[in-house]
Amino acid sequence: MGKLEGQLGSTGIGVEHQQSNSLSKFKLCSCENSRNGVGTEGLTSRSYQRTPRRRTLKPAHTRGSRLHLSSGRVHRLLPLEPKISMTPAVVILVLALSTGTLALDNGLMRTPPMGWLAWERFRCDIDCDHDPKNCISENLFMDMADRLAEDGWRELGYVYVNIDDCWSSMERDANGRLQADPKRFPNGIPHLARYVHDRGLKLGIYGDFGTHTCGGYPGTTLDKIQTDAQTFADWGIDMLKLDGCYSNATEQEKGYPLMSQALNATGRPIGYSCSWPAYQGGLPPKVNYTQLGEICNLWRNYGDIQDSWSSVLNIADWFFTNQDILQPAAGPGRWNDPDMLVIGDFGLSFDQSQTQMALWAIMAAPLFMSNDLRSIDARSRTILQNKGLIYINQDPLGIQGRRLIKEQSGVEVFWRPLSNDASALVFFSRREDMPYRYQTSLKKLNYTAGVYQAYDVYQEKLLPAFKDSTDFVVSINPSGVVMWFVVPTKQMMGDGKLFGGDRLAKPTHL
Ligand code: GLA
Repeated sequence: MGKLEGQLGSTGIGVEHQQSNSLSKFKLCSCENSRNGVGTEGLTSRSYQRTPRRRTLKPAHTRGSRLHLSSGRVHRLLPLEPKISMTPAVVILVLALSTGTLALDNGLMRTPPMGWLAWERFRCDIDCDHDPKNCISENLFMDMADRLAEDGWRELGYVYVNIDDCWSSMERDANGRLQADPKRFPNGIPHLARYVHDRGLKLGIYGDFGTHTCGGYPGTTLDKIQTDAQTFADWGIDMLKLDGCYSNATEQEKGYPLMSQALNATGRPIGYSCSWPAYQGGLPPKVNYTQLGEICNLWRNYGDIQDSWSSVLNIADWFFTNQDILQPAAGPGRWNDPDMLVIGDFGLSFDQSQTQMALWAIMAAPLFMSNDLRSIDARSRTILQNKGLIYINQDPLGIQGRRLIKEQSGVEVFWRPLSNDASALVFFSRREDMPYRYQTSLKKLNYTAGVYQAYDVYQEKLLPAFKDSTDFVVSINPSGVVMWFVVPTKQMMGDGKLFGGDRLAKPTHL
């Protein structure tokens, strides 16, 4: 068999951007550039072991969002997660009968959550007088909800519309409840929740366990946890990101589990995103990933993403450097969160945008875009709406992928096992010169002996069948990727369909 070549159009140019380096708040950045190391970091698919889980499995119909595709089209089943109506008494009973831990048993987010989050792109812009289109206001979230619902995002799984910091009034109300800024959210959050729900979407909100949010708005102290959880439930909130500014490690150890319990006790399924590990350095012994998996649906492990390639690279490096710790923590209902997608903003080239999407899919990361969906360019949209990428990200096994190899050449190979013996491979080049022709074989990447087919996810092309021992060459652009979806040929022939059905666009040239 001859050589295979996955050729990417070499359109992107690596662009240097200044990094504001505002990760410093977290003081986590080891910032080590590991391009010189060589070695196989992965496990073979045969030796791959998942850690045992203690979470109770929900009946299939209560599990999280899944893509259902037929005839090459994507259909989204809505509502994605039925509302489980549980009285507080039932919740307490369930908690008592469970493992004795503070289990978050909401059945949500069985695949990584997807949607839109305001922070990276719109920050704490509250100047609605001078910047009405971009300020943090109900109009911004309604605009984004409209775009998600009307521009094909919702059907692909992007269903969360998430408010971040700076939404609230500086004061709680007379009953001690949080309230939205009356000028910027004149109709209140319940109205916004209805607006979002009416479009088949979900509304997320931001809180902070501490005296203040990072932006200086009222925080949630221990005595306010129940009130705030109930307020969010009453408003029709579907997800809470609980930040950790202005609290210490001892307080956080109490606060994050208590909020989990309080959310459960409301009886409303509310996805729970915990920033706790990011405030504790992201690594054991300070961070207990077993516990996090029991109380949170997702968690920020590391510092804030910025709109730059150096920030994306820094985050990816940290996650893959620490993959032995982080990778087993992830699974259905519990995800590591490397932070938002900045594709469609200002800092990434086309190739770098493809790289962020590919590495986030390998990591089984939540896909929260932080961009302006009203004016996003066509090429960024194509990356974010790539069905193959989303299919890989949303694989129901929910196994986080790993970096397999760091070559001296600056090429790195990443791998994620998927359901039905499929897998995803990403070939990434850190080089800054020209497209690099990287030669390898599936055998060298620890694949079992056999015949395989590979689908180039960005090129949307199926490559001819090849053996594990066949050497192939992929041409990888500087700071770009080639991404493959790989399936044993036997299996593809078996059911006469590609990739276990029609979940990917059907190649025309088998
Ligand atoms: C922290 C979080 C960010 C964002 C800001 C808001 O920095 O990590 O994601 O929520 O606070 O102030």
